[in-house]
Amino acid sequence: MKIEILPVVQCEQLKPTVYALHLRSAYFSGLIKPGQFINIKVQDGVYPLLRRPFSVAFKKRDIITIIFDVVGEGTRILSEKNPGDTVDVLGPLGRSFKMPEPDTTAILVAGGLGMAPMPILTQFLMEQKIYGIETFLGARSENYLIDYNLTNIHYATDDNSKGFHGTVVSLLEQWLSENTDREMYVYACGPNPMLRALQSMLCKYSLSGQVSLECIMACGVGICQGCPVESANSQTKYRLVCKDGPVFDIHSVVIQ
Ligand SMILES: Cc1cc2nc3c(=O)[nH]c(=O)nc-3n(C[C@H](O)[C@H](O)[C@H](O)COP(=O)(O)OP(=O)(O)OC[C@H]3O[C@@H](n4cnc5c(N)ncnc54)[C@H](O)[C@@H]3O)c2cc1C
Ligand code: FES
Repeated sequence: MKIEILPVVQCEQLKPTVYALHLRSAYFSGLIKPGQFINIKVQDGVYPLLRRPFSVAFKKRDIITIIFDVVGEGTRILSEKNPGDTVDVLGPLGRSFKMPEPDTTAILVAGGLGMAPMPILTQFLMEQKIYGIETFLGARSENYLIDYNLTNIHYATDDNSKGFHGTVVSLLEQWLSENTDREMYVYACGPNPMLRALQSMLCKYSLSGQVSLECIMACGVGICQGCPVESANSQTKYRLVCKDGPVFDIHSVVIQ
């Protein structure tokens, strides 16, 4: 892990409030694994004080990409970056997704900007010759459906603007009821209510997998103890999202 000042290659608008920021770094591109994140100081000076965490979404040669929604001041500042600007990046941070057994179908389930770690996960799965990939992508409306570098996509929207009308978990359950003939392993990221519904549905189908959790972070490296998640294992009460995660076995955490 280290801090590097990275040049901005491009800040690309994907949807009205969603951007892909491409940064040049041979170091990060060489080391980053799917599910890991970087902590960005969005501009020089003391404001905003804290770094902002973002999953690395994609890598190509010496370029890494993050995909983000503008929700506050930090992401607004990032969305206004131009080629030639620089950002101060700490990483790679956190634990990555593990690869499934050969011949397993990888089920990728994402809600909204929870799609962010899925393109790089798809890249790594394909490199491991896991070609059975089914991606379930849900959002409140089409404006938040980001299918950047994903494959084999089943869409769901809350407002019926694209694909299945309903939640991505309901769509996955419908698909699972018709596809019971294979080994499957699930990878998920999204809002907590979606992840809770997914956890209980996977119990019903006896499926295992991993989840990438998000929470508000301060240090991002395990020092401040500000990102606890309750453990489902009675031996360990809490784990830290930044250091023990953000990727966890989906049945090992209590998602609030
Ligand atoms: C490991 C990790 C990976 C992440 N990856 C991505 C990503 O790839 N793309 C992306 O768009 N976002 C991602 N996030 C969330 C992202 O870090 C926040 O959206 C960002 O820090 C907001 O900064 P801001 O200054 O724009 O907003 P702020 O002014 O800090 O906050 C604006 C609003 O967003 C809420 N908020 C801030 N951070 C979070 C959070 N982590 N979870 C839920 N609500 C939050 C605040 O409570 C507030 O209501 C990730 C978070 C974590 C912990
Ligand atoms: S954010 Fe400081 S310990 Fe996780």
